[in-house]
Amino acid sequence: MKIEDRIYAGITGVGKFFPENVVTNHDMEKRVKTNHDWIVDRTGIHERRFAEPGTGASDLAMPAIQQAMDMAGAKPDEIDCIICCTITPDTVFPSASCLIQEKMGATNAWAFDLSAACSGWVYGMVVADSLIRAGSHRKVMVVGVDVMTAILNMNDRNTCVLFGDGAGATLVERLPDGEVGIMDSVLGSDGAGGKHLYMPAGGSVRPASHETVEAGEHYVVQEGKAVFRAAVDGMAKISLEVLERIGATGDDVDLFVPHQANLRIIDYARKKAKLPMSKVMVTIDKYGNTTAGTIPTSLRIAAEEKRVKKGDMVLISTFGAGFTWGASALRWSAPSL
Ligand code: UT7
Repeated sequence: MKIEDRIYAGITGVGKFFPENVVTNHDMEKRVKTNHDWIVDRTGIHERRFAEPGTGASDLAMPAIQQAMDMAGAKPDEIDCIICCTITPDTVFPSASCLIQEKMGATNAWAFDLSAACSGWVYGMVVADSLIRAGSHRKVMVVGVDVMTAILNMNDRNTCVLFGDGAGATLVERLPDGEVGIMDSVLGSDGAGGKHLYMPAGGSVRPASHETVEAGEHYVVQEGKAVFRAAVDGMAKISLEVLERIGATGDDVDLFVPHQANLRIIDYARKKAKLPMSKVMVTIDKYGNTTAGTIPTSLRIAAEEKRVKKGDMVLISTFGAGFTWGASALRWSAPSL
């Protein structure tokens, strides 16, 4: 099949939202035994945003969705499907996606949540791409949002300094014939990595009880080194793999938008793909790791800073809990801001 004969989906709108409350490393020093230099050296994080207690994932998502809809010039009743990628939905059920569907008045959309932690938004985008290429959907809203403060132990220095709250939203849309958008993607999972990054209680095996709450089992547990080792190799490998599949190299990439978990992981992946730092989006310094939010928020920031324009080749890559991972190569399809 000739490249232009295929149906293509592309990102035609993107939005972001972060809570106002900026929490610096010095603020974190008042909560746990840590220091600014350690956090910057080991992660690249300078500050993050914390939402007000009681903020739902759907609340954080709505301003980001509005921005994405405005950028794409789309109306709520044109949306066919909403995929909210999150590990911190407002409630276990109903889904955050259904709450979003009502809040945005997307009366013709079906909606579901997707749980893949830091890989959530990439998984969601690939599902949207598949629905569109199958010919049954035209406009899919893919949200990546996490309210990590809802599941962080603020007394655990191994985790509380790493994460922040934030929401990104993208409209993934069927492109006019002949326009190229999302070119190819590589996804993977390895459940054997689950034990290194997880939340022990609150699911069906250990439902909430006085004991689980007292033991602090509703918080993120991470064995940082094990995740780091897997992520550093994983992200570099899949970034190269997706480029190879489309017959491209780092030279063809205009912008690399990696998951923002650790500046050292990003740096390793971009070196392997032979990409200069000037082609890499780094937002971890200001926002920390917002889990499913890092990539779509970074895409919006890239658009705001005019670092990406229609037709540019964008490489996306992620690695997270599960383990889960994914990379995509796409031509940017959204108008300039
Ligand atoms: O997005 C989902 C996927 N997640 C990731 O990709 C995260 C991957 N992991 C990482 O980014 C890194 O492993 C961390 C940033 C979490 C930790 O960095 P590290 O270089 O692997 O440090 P470490 O865990 O081996 O800890 C080194 C030392 C330890 O002290 P000892 O045992 O050597 O005395 C820790 O207790 O640093 C200590 N430490 C801290 N010190 C100051 C751990 N956390 C802190 C802290 N402040 N916040």
